[in-house]
Amino acid sequence: MSQERIESMMDEKRHFAPPADSRGRAHVSGEAAREALVRRAAEDPEGFWGERAAQLIDWFKPWDTVLDADMNEPRIEWFKGGRLNVAHNCLDRHVAGNRRNKAAIIWQGEPEEDVRVLTYQMLYDEVRRFAAVLRKMGVHKGDRVSLYMPMIPELAVAMLACARIGAVHSIVFAGFSAVSLQNRIHDCEAKVVVTADAVLRAGRRIPLKVNVDEAVRQCPSVEKVVVVNRGSLEVTMEEGRDLWWHEVMADRTLDVDRPCEEMDAEDMLFILYTSGSTGKPKGVVHTTGGYLTYAAHTTQWVFDVQDDDVYWCTADIGWITGHSYIVYGPLALGATSLMFEGVPSWPSPDRFWRIVEKFRVNIFYTAPTVVRALMREGTDWTERHDLSSLRVLGSVGEPINPEAWMWYHTHIGKGRLPIVDTWWQTETGGIMISGLPYATTLKPGSATQPLPGVDAAIVRPDGSPAGPNEGGHLVIRKPWPGMLRGIFGSPERYRSTYFERFPGMYESGDGARTDTDGYFWIMGRLDDVINVSGHRMGTAEVESALVAHPSVAEAAVVGMPHAVKGEAIYAYVTLGADAEETEELRAELRAWVRKEIGPIATPDVLQFAEGLPKTRSGKIMRRILRKIAAGATSEFGDTSTLADPGVVSDLIEGRLQLT
Ligand code: WTA
Repeated sequence: MSQERIESMMDEKRHFAPPADSRGRAHVSGEAAREALVRRAAEDPEGFWGERAAQLIDWFKPWDTVLDADMNEPRIEWFKGGRLNVAHNCLDRHVAGNRRNKAAIIWQGEPEEDVRVLTYQMLYDEVRRFAAVLRKMGVHKGDRVSLYMPMIPELAVAMLACARIGAVHSIVFAGFSAVSLQNRIHDCEAKVVVTADAVLRAGRRIPLKVNVDEAVRQCPSVEKVVVVNRGSLEVTMEEGRDLWWHEVMADRTLDVDRPCEEMDAEDMLFILYTSGSTGKPKGVVHTTGGYLTYAAHTTQWVFDVQDDDVYWCTADIGWITGHSYIVYGPLALGATSLMFEGVPSWPSPDRFWRIVEKFRVNIFYTAPTVVRALMREGTDWTERHDLSSLRVLGSVGEPINPEAWMWYHTHIGKGRLPIVDTWWQTETGGIMISGLPYATTLKPGSATQPLPGVDAAIVRPDGSPAGPNEGGHLVIRKPWPGMLRGIFGSPERYRSTYFERFPGMYESGDGARTDTDGYFWIMGRLDDVINVSGHRMGTAEVESALVAHPSVAEAAVVGMPHAVKGEAIYAYVTLGADAEETEELRAELRAWVRKEIGPIATPDVLQFAEGLPKTRSGKIMRRILRKIAAGATSEFGDTSTLADPGVVSDLIEGRLQLT
């Protein structure tokens, strides 16, 4: 994050007391209640989490121990011996109870008239059917299924069907390229891929199935591909491998009555790939009992979800936010979750506000980049809709700058609504640091305080606790139920990435500070991961895509501050001897990255460089590259280790601005 933004946050003095819990039904009401929960969870964490797991989740068999863990090894086991099924918790028990006719998912497709409401009964029936389809295809407990799909209800159906039979889903965001998809399918050796013909986005139909065809060619593990018809786009169906969703679902011989698989609390629920500091994405593993408990628990407390609410998280299910806060958390609670296909700006910048009005949305959870983009469009768009149904607003994905916070509060929250700024990660499974809407005094730009039971701290490089306003590493010192249990296929990478540097603690990779009130201010990633519009992107991933191009000799990628995206991607590229620095090549390289990884990885700026600043031992000095990209060319700090100081002035001269 830019220095300027950090400083503006340091000066932030405004605060907002929580609204009164006028109906007397908030899950956590008042600051004293929150503090009592924090104390209780700190004094008796196992009692606290055991109580939440029993309140929120149905167990076929209760656990023997709440927690058996050692963060040094690491070995983390929650609710050991307990048996449950996630789909049972999200569907069966609500159908058997009194929510059979309640809307589970309200789906707003991209065309305004494309609306589907799935009651709990309807969703349950679809899920049982698709579970039977998967079983018939030979998918067994523990097998992996890759889901590469648009934001359509079939995605939620496929997830829950996997959970029902104990298969492990691995969702790949539909904006990723064929190559990225292939790597992810290959890494987890998926047996089945579920996809669609196309994605509908901003009025266009973007082909999706073609990417699967390309990816699967190199993936011998894949036996079947199921295709949903979303856009009636012509696709090639490979005989014996590819099947239409609507055809397999119509099969009259399916065994839909089979009960759900009884899973162990620590059985794998899903894998989700995320970027790290090397070129290879990590398959973050989440398990059953702890993850579901944590997703349900945080959804209930952080958003104060009530039974009659319409709750809307605008994320894509391809990211962790959609997993935990569109599907698993809300459905475990028996809530109504709105699912949206499309973009905030199409057909016009009031798309979101129109939907809030149309469905009388009560809880709205989005990303700062969306707020900043819509803020630029002006308040005419917000004023033409009745937003009075809203009660709680949320933010996730990157620090929300005070200016965007205030706009959100004033124009969407009409000066009265609490904004929960939720800090967490793919690895944490659920929200870790956040205000509670009826119990926390908010400060714009601060994620406020760790949730009860979350032992977050800021430490110095040597692991000792940092003092107030001293920036440091954000760590978690005690296990929590939603934490990752591994990196698929790489136990050593799991240990060294998260548990090595600070013994006995989980290392988040983020920098942060606490103020004198103990409020947390997140400063951004400390590793080589950048945050583009709330999406994590490894600079090494973009670099390896660039150097795979025959004209490129070397590449270095850094983040640069961007007014809407938070960070933009700035690439420095050194060409091979035969290549020429032309505008055509620049465009070709950007298109190349787009094709290799996906549109979200496209460099915003690509500068040709004669050489890169390196230490005498050959290490690229990214600190300098970040400064040049940001236009801060006078404050390089210590450059005495540079092998060739001349390259820096060349780079400054050749610096490009965002257009
Ligand atoms: C950043 C998304 C500041 C952070 C849930 C983290 C945030 C990374 C916030 C995880 C927030 C997420 N304030 N920064 N409220 N929320 N981040 O895995 O750098 O896609 O490490 O999970 O996003 O991104 P991921």
